Amino acid sequence: MSLNDTYTLSNGVKIPVIGFGTWQAPDGDVAYQSVRSALDNGYRHIDTAAIYGNEVSVGRAIADSGIARHELFITTKLWNDAHDYDSARQAFQTSLDRLGLDYVDLYLIHWPNPKHLRQNNQWEIGNAEAWRAMEDIYQAGKARAIGVSNFQISDLKSLEKHQSIAPMVNQNFLNPSDQQSELVQYNQQHNILNEAYSPLGTGKLLSNPVIENISQKYNKSVAQILIRWSLDKGFLPLPKSTHADYIKANTDVFDFSLSADDIQQLDNLSGSAGLHLDASQADF
Ligand SMILES: NC(=O)c1ccc[n+]([C@@H]2O[C@H](COP(=O)([O-])OP(=O)(O)OC[C@H]3O[C@@H](n4cnc5c(N)ncnc54)[C@H](OP(=O)(O)O)[C@@H]3O)[C@@H](O)[C@H]2O)c1
Repeated sequence: MSLNDTYTLSNGVKIPVIGFGTWQAPDGDVAYQSVRSALDNGYRHIDTAAIYGNEVSVGRAIADSGIARHELFITTKLWNDAHDYDSARQAFQTSLDRLGLDYVDLYLIHWPNPKHLRQNNQWEIGNAEAWRAMEDIYQAGKARAIGVSNFQISDLKSLEKHQSIAPMVNQNFLNPSDQQSELVQYNQQHNILNEAYSPLGTGKLLSNPVIENISQKYNKSVAQILIRWSLDKGFLPLPKSTHADYIKANTDVFDFSLSADDIQQLDNLSGSAGLHLDASQADF
């Protein structure tokens, strides 16, 4: 495996095995320089979202990189304020305009159950409507693939009742501390790629003593061990950093693989590092 390697989505589209995360990379210099640095260091897959507020800087970095558009894989996401057909179409166009692109590679419903739609199962209708818009965007060739994020099995089953096209990706909080095994398996059984967001636990796993111990054995950093674990599980990790040295180091994960014993030790961290994300309780 290398940074140029790809997974193949259910529709045949190829997606680079590591994506560069941009959440909490503020619009302006930080997001711009981070994405420039990622592209300079060989990443070809960038993950942003309307709600991150940085699509303009991400788009500028992409344009200034001079890298041919077809070599890049760009993901953005539909936010919670646009879960009806017309709003979703409009939000997608706004994202394209901000990014300065005429298509994206992957468009995701960011969140299954916006707070304002939680009563009377309105969220279900919202997802069905948003998905109908995404299907049309996909059919029009404006998104090469479509998918979801933070969808639990029940959310996927609800969507199945309405979809004509199945999601190709489900992007979730996935790291050794929170492995969501049933969901991961469900995605695999349905040919939905597991993208792993917060592969470093938004930084909270970087001082974990078990992982530190393993990292010394391999002469790798804790971040590299976590990214490797994600790849060894068949996930697509999306590490984020705003520091050029970390951005580069996070790609140096292809010259080793973890032993079965070490993967087991990491698997045993499930729950113990105290990280768990419950999408149904989010305050937005
Ligand atoms: N779909 C969703 O709802 C959702 C939710 C969360 C995240 N995501 C996506 O997943 C991406 C990654 O998740 P995340 O942002 O939560 O965090 P993460 O990648 O798990 O961790 C990022 C944190 O780790 C630090 N870091 C990165 N590499 C490091 C290294 N080699 N050594 C030391 N520290 C390092 C970063 O510091 P610096 O930035 O200071 O360098 C930052 O504080 C996001 O950016 C976003 O694209 C999606």
